[in-house]
This record gives sequence, structure tokens and C-alpha cells, in this order.
Amino acid sequence: MAEKEVLSYPGLDKVAGEEFLQEAFQIMLEEGVRKGMDVSEKVCDWKEPEELEQILDLHLKDTGETKTRLLERCRDIIRYSVKTCHPRFFNQLFSGLDPHALAGRMITEMLNTSQYTYEIAPVFVLMEEVVLKKLRELIGWKEGDGTFCPGGSISNMYAMNVARYHCFPDCKQKGNWALPKLAAFTSYECHYSIQKGAAFLGIGTDNIYLVAVDEKGKMIPEDLEKQISRAKSEKAFPFFVNATCGTTVLGAFDPLHAIADVCARHKIWLHVDAAWGGSALISQRHRHLLDGIERADSVAWNPHKMLMTGLQCSAFLLRDSSGLLQRCHCAKATYLFQNDKFYNMDYDRGDQTIQCGRKIDCFKLWLMWKANGTGGLEERVDRAFAFTRYLTDEIKKRKGFQLVVEPEFINLCFWYVPPGLQGQEGCTDYYARLGKVAPIIKERMMKKGSMMVSYQPHGNRVNFFRQVVTNPAVTREDLDFFLDEIEQLGKDL
Ligand SMILES: Cc1ncc(COP(=O)(O)O)c(C=O)c1O
Repeated sequence: MAEKEVLSYPGLDKVAGEEFLQEAFQIMLEEGVRKGMDVSEKVCDWKEPEELEQILDLHLKDTGETKTRLLERCRDIIRYSVKTCHPRFFNQLFSGLDPHALAGRMITEMLNTSQYTYEIAPVFVLMEEVVLKKLRELIGWKEGDGTFCPGGSISNMYAMNVARYHCFPDCKQKGNWALPKLAAFTSYECHYSIQKGAAFLGIGTDNIYLVAVDEKGKMIPEDLEKQISRAKSEKAFPFFVNATCGTTVLGAFDPLHAIADVCARHKIWLHVDAAWGGSALISQRHRHLLDGIERADSVAWNPHKMLMTGLQCSAFLLRDSSGLLQRCHCAKATYLFQNDKFYNMDYDRGDQTIQCGRKIDCFKLWLMWKANGTGGLEERVDRAFAFTRYLTDEIKKRKGFQLVVEPEFINLCFWYVPPGLQGQEGCTDYYARLGKVAPIIKERMMKKGSMMVSYQPHGNRVNFFRQVVTNPAVTREDLDFFLDEIEQLGKDL
């Protein structure tokens, strides 16, 4: 067909497209949702990378494939992927599947718009503000600002950037030349994104002063005070303190009031990384863990973790309502934020972020919240705490299981001491041998497909398991299975 003639017809077969979507959705429901949540199915059909490459035939070719082949591929992709919605997936700080949140994710994928201007995302611009306001209210702020970010790591980097700009607004134009040597403070237990943020923003990881923690993993405010004095004596300018609510491994909550007192005395920006623990704010019973969070200047909170919205949903929230976020990041591109638009441009919020195109992250949370109400979400949070309490009690009863710390949150950290090692604590190679147990059990569970849980060495502690349950589809039977399976997989070690 001649070029001109080609243009007379659509370049896409809409009917075939719709048929494909219908069948792909069916596969998604059957293979991903139904089987994914079915306890009798594997969490993961493990294959070594070479074998998986062979099975999937991933290479991209010159010609397209038939619908039947493509649907077969969709099935395979789901089949060989890890089912994070499976009731025995305990590996990450996110898990489970909320049908409303999933519908929200699918609708935003279908609409394929960007959050930056009212003209392209009228509904979501209004919705994002409502959701952020609700999160701020739970923190205890009547006013403020914020944005959804692609993950908690980025939210933490925003915090550092805004704090730096707040102290040295010139640095936006003049860069690091306008700055003294900056010093940031965080505990030894903080998430690695604080170090990454310091590297990314040109602050430098050497200028992160690590504050000591107590035996539970909580920052010691007296040591924060000491580190600030040390930084000052080293001619550095203390500009940023990060406190963590829900540390990644131990689930510790830093004492916010005492830390806020130190920050107030030294006039330092207080950021709270509540990426993991923030959702406890929804529970009347557990929100005391974050007492003092209202004194923070900024907060990172990931509803995609404990609240189960699905990746990604991370809010960066600010107490400031003077437009600091906008001033810090705006570039005023006239091709997007024209100043002669026909509507109120206050609704074009995109210039307050470092992104241009930005995915819609508020809708999955909004729809899930509408479906469950705050009360329903609170029940989920309380249920997660109850899971951890149950498992903690069981671990104390069972031979061979040993807690690393008494859980304050829903991180259950423990060693499994197999029969071959029990009673040998005095042997010189005891800890070296104990450290090998978790990786072997993990390999066995993955290859069997029975469950997934993470492990790590931590400070001077050898490898231990960190189990987390956020998925309300989990029942006590799954938790009993979890402990039985560890015993079963490790009984010959
Ligand atoms: C305490 C804490 N902060 C930040 C993050 C980073 O969040 P994200 O994975 O969304 O970047 C995590 C992730 O586990 C975390 O545990």
C-alpha cells in the first residue's frame, strides 16, 4: 500500500486488541490472582537463570507472534514469577493483594496519564491532594504539602534536598559552591537510601554521621547530641537529622520527642523515615509508636508496604505550607506550565517534583481506602501486629527457635538452631555454623516453592530470618506451617 493510502486506515486492530485484553485479563485472574493466592500452589516455580532463559525465549524478533503464542507467554511469565500475594510469601516488607488497589493500578495503567498538570490529570490532581491531606492529618498536621514519589528511597532523598534548600536556597543555582561542608545524622539502623541520597545529592557518604542505637535498634538521642558536637568541631554544618520509624531489619522506632528536642535546640531539619512504620498511625492501638512524629519537618511513608496498595505508593509529606517544595524544585518549563492557561494554574503541581512525567500513585490507595474505610485499614494493621504476637509466642515455645530481639513492630527476627547445633553454643565454630543455616533453609524452600522469607547478617549477628506478615489473607494455619516448614527443611543440619 502506498504511504498515503496506509494513513487512511487505523494502524491498530482495535477489535483484536480488545479480544487479546479480555483473554489476557482472564489469564491474569486465573494464574496470577486465583492460583497466586492459593496456598496449595507454589510461591515460586524456581528455575536457574539459564533454564529460565531457555523456557521463556526472551529475545525480541523482527516479526510479531500469534495471539495464541502471546497468551501462552503471558501464562508463562506469571507462572515463573514470584507470587507476592501468596499467603506464604513473607520475604519483603510488602505482600498480599488487595482487589480494589489492584483495580486502581489497572485503571491508572489503562488511562496512562501523568500527574503533572490539571489539564492531563484533572481527577488525579484533585485526588492526590485529598489523599496527601488524609495522610498529613494522621501525622497530626492541619496544613502542609507533599507529593507521591517513586518509592521511599526517593522520598528520603527529597527530604535531604528540601532540607538543604531550606538552609541554603542559593544552592539551587550555585550548586555545591554555595555550601559549607554539610553534615547529616541518622542511626546505624537506618535504611541505605540515606547513604545513597547523600551520595546522589553531592553531600557525600563520609558526611553522614552515624548515631549509636540501643539493644532494640533505637537511636540514642544523647549520642545524636554528641555527633552534632563532633560535626561542628569538624567545621561541618549540621542540616539534617533522619529518624526512622520502623527500621528495615529489626522494626525499631526511634524516640521522636527526644530527637525533636535535639533538632529544635540546634535548629536542624527533622525528617522521619516512616516508609515502613508509618502505617501504624492508622491504628489507635499502635500509633503511639510514632509519638512525636507531628514535630517532624518532613515524613516519608510507604502505603505500598504495610497497607498493601501494591508498588509503588510512597508519600513524601511536609509540614511546610509556604511552597518550599515548589521553590526547591521548580524549573518553570513553559512547554508544560504555560502561564496563560485557561484554568487556575495552582492545580498544576508537577513543577514541585524532580520528575517530569509521574505515574498516578494516589488512586490505588484512594480506591482501597474507599472500599475498606479507615476502620478496615486499621483492622488490617492490628491483624498484622496480632500475627507477630502469635508467632513470637510460638517461637518461645518451640525448641531450636531463638528470638534476636523482642519485636516492637511486625519484624520477627529469629535464628533457627537445628538439632545438629543445639546445645553447642560453647563451640568455637558455633556462630560460623549457625550463620550457614538460614541460607541453606532458604535455598531449600525456594527450590521446593513452599514459602519465602528473607534472612540477613546484621552488625555482629550472624544470619537470621526476618519474617514479616502484612497480608490479611494469611491465617494461623499459614503461620504454623511457616515454623513447621523451617524445622522440616533444617532437621538434618
Ligand atoms: C525504613 C525504610 N525506608 C525506606 C525504604 C525504601 O523504600 P522503597 O523500597 O520504596 O524505596 C525502606 C524499604 O524497605 C525502608 O525499610
